[in-house]
Amino acid sequence: MWLGVDIGTGSSRALLVDQRGRVCAGYTAAHEEMRMERPLWAEQRPENWWDAAVAAIRGALAAGGISGGQVKGIGLSGQMHGLVILDDGGRVIRPALIWCDQRSQAQVDAVNAKIGRENVLKYTANPVLTGFTLPKLLWVRDHEPRNFERVRKLLLPKDYVRFRLTGEFASEVSDASGTALFDVVERRWSWPMVDGLGLDRAILPRCYESSDITGEITREAAQLTGLQAGTPVVGGAGDQAASAVGNGIVEPGIVSCTIGTSGVVFAHMEQVAYDPAGRVHTFCHAVRDRWHVMGVTQGAGLSLQWFRNQLAPGTAYDALTALAAQSPPGAQGLFWLPYLMGERTPHLDAAARGGWIGLTASHTRADLVRALLEGVSYSLRDCLDIVQELGVAANSVRASGGGAVSAFWRQLLADVLDQRVVTLETQEGSAYGAALLALAGTGEYASVPEVCRAAIRETGSVSPEPASAAFYEKGHRIYQALYPALKPIYGAIGS
Ligand code: XUL
Repeated sequence: MWLGVDIGTGSSRALLVDQRGRVCAGYTAAHEEMRMERPLWAEQRPENWWDAAVAAIRGALAAGGISGGQVKGIGLSGQMHGLVILDDGGRVIRPALIWCDQRSQAQVDAVNAKIGRENVLKYTANPVLTGFTLPKLLWVRDHEPRNFERVRKLLLPKDYVRFRLTGEFASEVSDASGTALFDVVERRWSWPMVDGLGLDRAILPRCYESSDITGEITREAAQLTGLQAGTPVVGGAGDQAASAVGNGIVEPGIVSCTIGTSGVVFAHMEQVAYDPAGRVHTFCHAVRDRWHVMGVTQGAGLSLQWFRNQLAPGTAYDALTALAAQSPPGAQGLFWLPYLMGERTPHLDAAARGGWIGLTASHTRADLVRALLEGVSYSLRDCLDIVQELGVAANSVRASGGGAVSAFWRQLLADVLDQRVVTLETQEGSAYGAALLALAGTGEYASVPEVCRAAIRETGSVSPEPASAAFYEKGHRIYQALYPALKPIYGAIGS
């Protein structure tokens, strides 16, 4: 058996697979709600991730009737970009600022001023963004100097769980790519960034390839989790790269679209290429010496979750998508801007705000939900267009994540993206990819693409309906005109 553990935003999930990559058992343990003390702030407690990871691992072993000794390797994946800082005793100094926290615009500006925008692109293949780890660390330096002085190690969310499992301070190339401190082309920490900002090189963990073994389960972790001491833990991957492995996006031509809290369009690249405007991320892939490009919608599933929590408490998601289906395409001229946590692709604007545009008294609740699903899909179309501009071919889109569970949303995606949308036998996302990385890393398969070829199967697909695709093409153009029109007032709203 091989184990994948994903530290998500809402929960941690552990998943056991057999030698052929078939899912045997899984268990999910919920996290505490993220703390959003102020607009655009988002924090979680790393200790809570650890407790959830322990519960998930125990739960998966129990669900499968499997003893720790039967687990031959473990892979980790997790929400990217979060800042976990530890003191000299390995203790968490303050709650993690997580991926969607947008408080660090002043620090982004300071990095650009100090290093130079062009140099940042040259050193890291990406612009520095508020979502990334570096500006979060600098925010702590600027606002909590006493905490900053105590920092001895900086870890990403899943790497904190690795530290608790193995005692090692380690990361891997895909997740490290999202820190703004990593040389994505050379696949190692970027010393010009680290030194140029006067940071201590020693706070960075050792960085591996995703399928390398990074350590072994300690005795203490074995007691807590039920795993066996000495079991190897491979690098794993950031949740998006891990999910891409789970979706078989490890060769050219196939693109994935994952709708979780955020929404991501993801493509494999044989050669590294990046958008000079930085609208999509170019990161190291979990495949050795390969890269990926991805566009990110900050508020994808989050849009629907927000709607449910605030305006339809207690309603099931499938009841909401069924309601959306009652509204006609275009939701009677209503548009949703999914910028609930600012936006990355294509705007790179932490100040962008969400909302419906075009409301009239005749709009219904069904129109509100339909417009919301369409708006998120338009935003994903923005992502796909830019990925294709980089020369990446897309023959089909493999859909995954909570949003892909809905047949209605899958058809809508096919129409808006104007692509065949494919579903896979295993819909386990990042935890599954992490388990496949463990299979490759412990030598069961020669490479990550090889394990994917053995394990992953397409089960169904929907094609775009030409009339709908043409309709949404026009809708997308209107949607695209909304952000520039509203941009001038976002600053005023936020100040
Ligand atoms: C990727 C990203 C999200 C988070 C949370 O850049 O920010 O995928 O990892 O899922």
